Amino acid sequence: MSTRRDFIKKSAFASAFLFGGLPRLGKSKSLMGTGDTNKPIVLSTWSHGIPANDAAWKILSGGGRALDAVEQGVMVVEADPKNTSVGLGGFPDRDGHVTLDASIMDEKGNCGSVAFLEHILHPVSVARAVMEKTPHVMLVGEGAFQFALENGFQKSNQEMTPEVKAVWEKWKTDNKYTSKPIDKNNHDTIGMVAMDSNGNLSGSCTTSGLGWKIHGRVGDSPIIGDGMFVDNEVGAACATGKGEAVMKICGSMLIVELMRNGRTPQQACEEAIHRIAKKQSDYKTFQVGFLALNKNGETGAYSLLKGFQYALAVNEQNKLYDSDYLVKD
Ligand code: GLY
Repeated sequence: MSTRRDFIKKSAFASAFLFGGLPRLGKSKSLMGTGDTNKPIVLSTWSHGIPANDAAWKILSGGGRALDAVEQGVMVVEADPKNTSVGLGGFPDRDGHVTLDASIMDEKGNCGSVAFLEHILHPVSVARAVMEKTPHVMLVGEGAFQFALENGFQKSNQEMTPEVKAVWEKWKTDNKYTSKPIDKNNHDTIGMVAMDSNGNLSGSCTTSGLGWKIHGRVGDSPIIGDGMFVDNEVGAACATGKGEAVMKICGSMLIVELMRNGRTPQQACEEAIHRIAKKQSDYKTFQVGFLALNKNGETGAYSLLKGFQYALAVNEQNKLYDSDYLVKD
């Protein structure tokens, strides 16, 4: 087994040498079973999944728990002030508040989430504290904030970056309410699913939500079964994109149930995307992407529109892939 240092070296080599500092892009990859289970393994949404997977791999390659990997993986992205779709660097709602949603789930079906949370650097860790320290699953808004303070989290003084503030100020000069479109350059959410070397699955999801959303809006990311779902007997799934569209089909839970009924992770992701297209007539106007992982370490990825990317770390390699997608015209 290679060490963490070897792994970092390899992913840095693929990135820096071959592609001038950018992560290496692969064709959409549906990892099929080889007879042996692919583990450990971690996959996560968008190009920010590369550094997130690196952090998760540090845990997984040392024999650590998938739950720790999916928490510490997405924390890297939450802490990046330049990331405008996750954490406190995110685009605000239309009133100028950056409100955060996050969830986490372990191999025993334990789960926790927070929504509409402000001024906290790591909402995913507050979600984990809800899971581990309360009899509840979800805390929101001021209650979630007070719970965070009571449990040792600090209030962050991080303000909107000047860049984000300038974009928001410009948007305010236009009276029309439209949320920001989601694409490669303006995506949302990091969702992550992982299996550790013991074969246990976990998932996490964290976002600042749709830019310019109505104050109080909560998306799919903190809703267990929508933005992320884990069933250790079957597999795990996570979502990115327009949360309202995911919530209308209970996307991540749907994918896990499809896998339970015999679909491969790839087939399950495709069926969920087809379900959105069948039920939501405006499906060509927004993005949704799904990732799935089953107990054999087989993976799936599929999106509505072109442009969805995901990072997959397995067998000591961490690479970015273009997902296949539905709308080809
Ligand atoms: N998928 C994240 C959101 O809609 O808020």
